[in-house]
Amino acid sequence: MLQFPEGFLWGVATSAHQFEGPGSNNQWQQWEQQGHVRQGFRCGDTCDWWRNAEGDLDLCRELGLNAIRVSIDWGRIEPVEAEWNHLAVARYRALLESIRFRGMKPMVTLHHFTHPQWFEERGGFLARGSAERFATYADRIVRELSDYCDTWITFNEPNVLAAFGYVFGEFPPGLRNRATEFAKAMISMHRAHSIVYNQIHKEHPNVRVGIASNWVEFQPATDAASDRLLANFYASAFNRSSLQLLTSGAMEFPLNTMVADIPEVIGKIDFFGLNVYNRLHVKAPFNELALRTGGLFVPPEAPQGDRGAELPYGEAYPAAISAAIAEYSRLDVPLYITENGVPDRTDRIRPWVIVQSLARVHECISSGYDVRGYFHWSIIDNFEWSEGWELRFGLYELDLQTRQRRPRPSAAIYRNIIQKNSLSDELLGRFSDPPVTSPPLSAGTS
Ligand code: BGC
Repeated sequence: MLQFPEGFLWGVATSAHQFEGPGSNNQWQQWEQQGHVRQGFRCGDTCDWWRNAEGDLDLCRELGLNAIRVSIDWGRIEPVEAEWNHLAVARYRALLESIRFRGMKPMVTLHHFTHPQWFEERGGFLARGSAERFATYADRIVRELSDYCDTWITFNEPNVLAAFGYVFGEFPPGLRNRATEFAKAMISMHRAHSIVYNQIHKEHPNVRVGIASNWVEFQPATDAASDRLLANFYASAFNRSSLQLLTSGAMEFPLNTMVADIPEVIGKIDFFGLNVYNRLHVKAPFNELALRTGGLFVPPEAPQGDRGAELPYGEAYPAAISAAIAEYSRLDVPLYITENGVPDRTDRIRPWVIVQSLARVHECISSGYDVRGYFHWSIIDNFEWSEGWELRFGLYELDLQTRQRRPRPSAAIYRNIIQKNSLSDELLGRFSDPPVTSPPLSAGTS
């Protein structure tokens, strides 16, 4: 049996746009209307949390969660520049109150991929003054909500926002292969983070401010120097960029040659969140297909959840958690697994992912790493950005027609772990190996 420390946070992670439904003036509304999401999907009513999050919060309470990650949609709060929507603020206050009322601790993200359309039209985080504009919004909303929340994440996955917006073209503004814009967006978001960090600490000395970053294990496909170099480049640009900025104020070579340093961000972090899902294999691109996919692929025999409409989501790889924790422990602040999960409509592989990921978390804690909580992505199926409704991440299935929530077997497994604050030998034995996969097609090379 693997016993977790007392006070360990057991949560689920969510985000505003993926759960709330219509009514925001954020940049994803237009992006979806323009048909950029696969199969023309739109978020629609999604989980309807703007009207009623409380039903699903009851499900969270039934699981025994003591924490939950939610985010604020800036596009609701400031739909037009400098016009503050007091009704939207009131709804977020009510949401946080509902969370507290059910005995859960909220961890609130100020930017989870969405911002107002007007902000996007000015160039998003590439625009001059964007960090200050974000900080103005952050300052006001933190003042409004600080009696309910003492743990704030400024940005969810700046590395994904910058990579998907400027390198892979999956998120607005949909640009591809723009390394300089990637680096500039990273710098701008970390500068914004440092301004907000200072602001919050000035007003609320006991509050904690962090960032959540995505971590992907990049595995060179062969021992060839080209594969190893490319994998290392991805790891440095994607996985380690927040770490580098927070410890040295600069990005690693060659990105540091494209942008100015930001020494003001060094050490401005009270905790760090790691969102860990998968492993991607890397083969240096020498042919056209590999160039399109950046040389990233998943071997067919690797354990996987459901594939996206076109691309594989990634190899389900619980060991990535250990690598992420070891690397980010260099910050010397408490760490949280702020997201972990797998797209899996039939719950074929999710139980194994939960059990084995938590076994890794436990192993890290036992060897002295300061890991304070685990947030599963997510409580119910929700709108998965450029993959729309194709990928299902819920412990509960959401029926889009009837709006019914049906528990997948993983919900009971997670409840069992939370209730005992431990992983039982029975679960460890039952889910020691990944289920045999009927392999989804790989979109890359091999
Ligand atoms: C994001 C979530 C997303 C999840 C599953 C994370 O990168 O923060 O918004 O739904 O991964 O792909």
